Amino acid sequence: MNTHARPSITWEEDYRDRVNPQLMTILLHKAIPVLQAVQWRVTRVDEGLCMSELPICSASTNQHGTHQAALISLSADYTGGLALASLLRGIPLAGVHRCTDENSASMWLAAMDVRYRMPSTGHLRACCRIPEDMARLVCERYFAGKRVLATLPVTFTANGDLVAEAEMKYFAQPSIQLRPTAKNSRVSPLFKHRLNASARMIAGLRASSDTGRFRIDAAYDRQAAGPHGELLARRLKGILPQLQTMVSSRTRHGDETLASVPGLRQVVILGAGLDMRPFRLFGALDNPLFFELDLPEMLEERARVISMMEDPPLAARRMIAADFTRHAVDELLLNHCDFDPRLPTCVIYEGCSMYFDQAQNDAILSAIARVLQHPDSCLWSDWVRESVVSGAVGNPAIARFLEGMDELGERFIFGCDHPDRLLEDHLADTDLISVQQYLEAEDPVFATYQFAVSRRTILSTQATLEARRQGV
Ligand SMILES: C[S@@+](CC[C@H](N)C(=O)[O-])C[C@H]1O[C@@H](n2cnc3c(N)ncnc32)[C@H](O)[C@@H]1O
Repeated sequence: MNTHARPSITWEEDYRDRVNPQLMTILLHKAIPVLQAVQWRVTRVDEGLCMSELPICSASTNQHGTHQAALISLSADYTGGLALASLLRGIPLAGVHRCTDENSASMWLAAMDVRYRMPSTGHLRACCRIPEDMARLVCERYFAGKRVLATLPVTFTANGDLVAEAEMKYFAQPSIQLRPTAKNSRVSPLFKHRLNASARMIAGLRASSDTGRFRIDAAYDRQAAGPHGELLARRLKGILPQLQTMVSSRTRHGDETLASVPGLRQVVILGAGLDMRPFRLFGALDNPLFFELDLPEMLEERARVISMMEDPPLAARRMIAADFTRHAVDELLLNHCDFDPRLPTCVIYEGCSMYFDQAQNDAILSAIARVLQHPDSCLWSDWVRESVVSGAVGNPAIARFLEGMDELGERFIFGCDHPDRLLEDHLADTDLISVQQYLEAEDPVFATYQFAVSRRTILSTQATLEARRQGV
């Protein structure tokens, strides 16, 4: 597939839909709130040209009433970046426009050299004009699928005087090329960062769950999330306030399922991310062996986070690197010397189904079914409704939340109303419950998210959970 084809649209269309000054000011304020705080704005965009203004105001100036040098550099970053983006006709920018890895460009600043000539005592006007021959080269390289490295000039004037001159060096390339492939295992630090960010955000939501309806011991999640995860969680909770409750409900329901398996000996966590269950539940579950599967880059981060924890309990754990789109989960587990499919096992497939298409989910479920050979073994999974992904749900907060997930590089691509039908192709019995039913709540947002517990033998898992809750 040619992921970097030049879209056949006119500059006028591109200007209207993607890069006009008003739109770019709104999008950049949303993505980088400090730009809004200092009232920075884009004033003109043309092909290979961007002008912006940093007004003289109390938020942007120092004790002498002149612009802070670092803010001039910040303005240079986005003025040059937008001039470069204007050349990539029709290509949305990752982190700014709504987009996917398949259709977007990733752009980042590699270096900058700013010379401050004199203090700025008026509105600061920045201008980046890309020379024509360089602009041609940028387009040729980008649309041939090659990485672009461009050094762009940005000049700053205030009251007609030259205040500063900058040389800004950017990289730009199709986002899809940042992903590791079977041929190219070299992983871009940008890809790694994005991957880790969403797992940190989920840990951040769990980290503050002890203030919500369910009190979950969040000490390990707090350490895993760190300030970055907590910040991202606050941002997404600000968009969709129900998110906190949805994540703590799923954690609680998964925990209850684990506790309901008689004589549980193994727990398999698919897409483990920064799930700290092995430490939180190790003792309560009577010391099962945990298998944690995820992409190698995520496991690297998981290992780093765990190594920094103070006195983690000695949970029995094995990490297995896997790309579920390329590797068969059953083969990886069955080939592991410590995994025994005949033992009572619970597989947790949490916060993952929405990132794989139906065929990929189907392959994962079928592989899971092959490793659940004990009659008490089970699978816990969570599913968003189809209307969430298609947009038909018509709830603006959910729509904005999905945009936020896109910006994190975690686009939801799959939703389904009847995951029990999907699951029952592989496992005999599934109990399905929505968060709305689980919480006995009215809020329709909670009806869009469901949990499933599936076993290979017919037996009501709901009844087992209920019995367990009542201490039977
Ligand atoms: C939203 S996180 C959920 C993490 C964890 N289950 C939790 O609830 O905290 C999704 C996880 O899926 C993992 N993942 C994404 N694509 C994957 C793939 N192709 N193969 C394996 N894991 C993948 C990510 O690395 C991430 O850890």
